[in-house]
Amino acid sequence: MPKSTLVLLHGFPLDSRMWQSVEKELACDYDLLIPDFPGFGGTPLLSENSIPHWARHLDSLLNDAGVSGKIQLCGLSMGGYVALEFATLFPGRLQRLILCDTKATADTEPARQQRLQTAQRMRAATGEQITVCLQELVAGMLPKLLAPATFELQAEIPQQLESWILQAEPLSVAVAQEAMAHRREHSELLKSLTCPVLGIVGADDQLTPPQVLGASINSARQGKLVVIPQAGHMPPLEQPRAFVEAICSG
Ligand code: MLT
Repeated sequence: MPKSTLVLLHGFPLDSRMWQSVEKELACDYDLLIPDFPGFGGTPLLSENSIPHWARHLDSLLNDAGVSGKIQLCGLSMGGYVALEFATLFPGRLQRLILCDTKATADTEPARQQRLQTAQRMRAATGEQITVCLQELVAGMLPKLLAPATFELQAEIPQQLESWILQAEPLSVAVAQEAMAHRREHSELLKSLTCPVLGIVGADDQLTPPQVLGASINSARQGKLVVIPQAGHMPPLEQPRAFVEAICSG
């Protein structure tokens, strides 16, 4: 039997390498497509960048890859925002939507303003200020990305994440913050979507706690939520086996 195509969309400000601990096992059951968002993982930005532009770009990537059947679309955090937009624009292309450590709501006004300020600082930075801005991003994000157990028992994971964040292109970081700040609300979409929707979230996720994703999944017609113990915002890195199990049994 042909395998279904599973597309994995990375979070901010990372790239497709964040899926490296689950790729091999998932490839046993799925044909994987693991793109980088424009501006990340060494790819160029598009001439116009927003969450809808990136969702349409994903549709083009699928067409270029010759994927004509329905796909399973999995997005983590920022990847989830793009997955939700893709589901709005192309609902007929989805066999299953998998939302990881993300939310269907838009930003509150204070959160939006904070993102836009960070983006402005990134855009204005030159020379050594660029490294300082990226280091500030690491300092602000890293403590919230991982579960306490990960810091205690898997010290290599925070180190890896720090090194990936410091490799991000400052302009792409700014553009992604602006894109997320202007993203639209998708709560109503989940009520109308006819395909199954799987939610996966780390039990210790501080950025999108289980109850936040859980509320969205509960509103879906065919929703299921899997909460992964000893994981924060990055279950595919922190608990790869449990993450793969959630997708494959789901
Ligand atoms: C992510 O992991 O992609 C970010 O937490 C998304 C966000 O900033 O909302």
